[in-house]
Amino acid sequence: MHDFKYKHSELYAEDVPVRRIAEEVGTPLYIYSHKTLSRHYEAFENAFDGFPHIICFALKANSNPAILRALAKKGCGADVVSGGELYLALKAGIPAGKIVYAGVGKTAEEIRYSLKSRILMFNIESSDELAHINRIAGDMGVRAPVALRVNPDINAVTHPYISTGLRKHKFGIPMEEAVESYRLAAGLPNIEIRGIHCHIGSQITEISPFVEAVKRILALANELRSQGIGIKYLDIGGGLGISYDNNVTPHPRELAAGIIPLISGNDFTLIVEPGRSIAGNAGILVTKVLYLKKSGEKNFVIVDAGMNDLIRPSLYEAYHHILPVKKNRRAEIQADVVGPICESGDFFARERRLNRPVHGDLLAVMSAGGYGFSMSSNYNSRLRPAEVLARGDEFYVIRKREQYRDLTKGTQIPDFLK
Ligand code: LLP
Repeated sequence: MHDFKYKHSELYAEDVPVRRIAEEVGTPLYIYSHKTLSRHYEAFENAFDGFPHIICFALKANSNPAILRALAKKGCGADVVSGGELYLALKAGIPAGKIVYAGVGKTAEEIRYSLKSRILMFNIESSDELAHINRIAGDMGVRAPVALRVNPDINAVTHPYISTGLRKHKFGIPMEEAVESYRLAAGLPNIEIRGIHCHIGSQITEISPFVEAVKRILALANELRSQGIGIKYLDIGGGLGISYDNNVTPHPRELAAGIIPLISGNDFTLIVEPGRSIAGNAGILVTKVLYLKKSGEKNFVIVDAGMNDLIRPSLYEAYHHILPVKKNRRAEIQADVVGPICESGDFFARERRLNRPVHGDLLAVMSAGGYGFSMSSNYNSRLRPAEVLARGDEFYVIRKREQYRDLTKGTQIPDFLK
């Protein structure tokens, strides 16, 4: 569900015509709906209401400071995977006590920064990392709060690049080694065990893999308790899928309905780390048609956004709806919608049916609010796009479009070349 709707054939972001924003801010351009974002966050809050919980938004999906501030104001926590994300989360006003830190490659500097900031816990990916964090915490004279990320070996049906819960993946500690790793952790002087973490993948469109994962980590929590190791936080990761192509996806309340009965009666705080399901359908990428081209039988619609702005179609062959910002009655054609970048992989859609666009038409690439701008780059030395937040009949530029001079920011010409 989102708030990008047609009124009299014109696409609106809440109550603002998308065309108006594009005319003022230019294209390519990300537009987010404050209302959609808020509703998606509140859907998680309400779903888990009644059981102690923290919703930790996964910043990797979207880390624009204004988006983070909007979520922070609603009481959201954060799932971060780098010092940069920790910085942005704290700067947005997310309390350190609601921040969890995951990732297989935390550096010493990032670990120190997190300890100094007093985050809720590290989600630990290996015994080696555990020993490292223990050492750093010891040097700083503090105890590091941790959960171990266990790998429940669950095959969640999703794209192979974003499935993470199987043994062959680099993530987490294998289930059968988990008890031993926890014992090791319990024996380390500068480690405080707080929780269990798992994350089984992304864009998962069924509830059953989550339920299965929770059953497995619950069994682990019970086993640990019997060995005198107490667990306060059950962190079930993110991964709830969204509708990219009108398919029906589970609501957070269904996720909660599957999980809460399993854990109720226990003294846990539940942590959920949604990213895409909060931000994904809260944003669109608006692009302008530059050229139409026919190569033999094939039609190409060439637009001013490229894979540097939104890489999901190129990287995962991800499907995104593409809608005209103004509906028209021109004949339908079948075309590849492609960007200006010098790579054949630079496309947003292949063999897509759409009303023949003409030069200057605006198109909206839907469901682009998660893993859109956050995965953008300057490839081909293109300027990264502007971002706008729509709210009611107002809109706000929340990131200015880059300028040419940004391309040399931080670079230096050595003396011998001057
Ligand atoms: N927690 C952890 C530990 C994660 O690794 C992830 C995502 C999340 C939470 C949030 O998952 P979500 O609720 O957004 O599914 N770039 C890919 C998605 C990669 C997801 C990586 N991990 C894409 O564009 O589809």
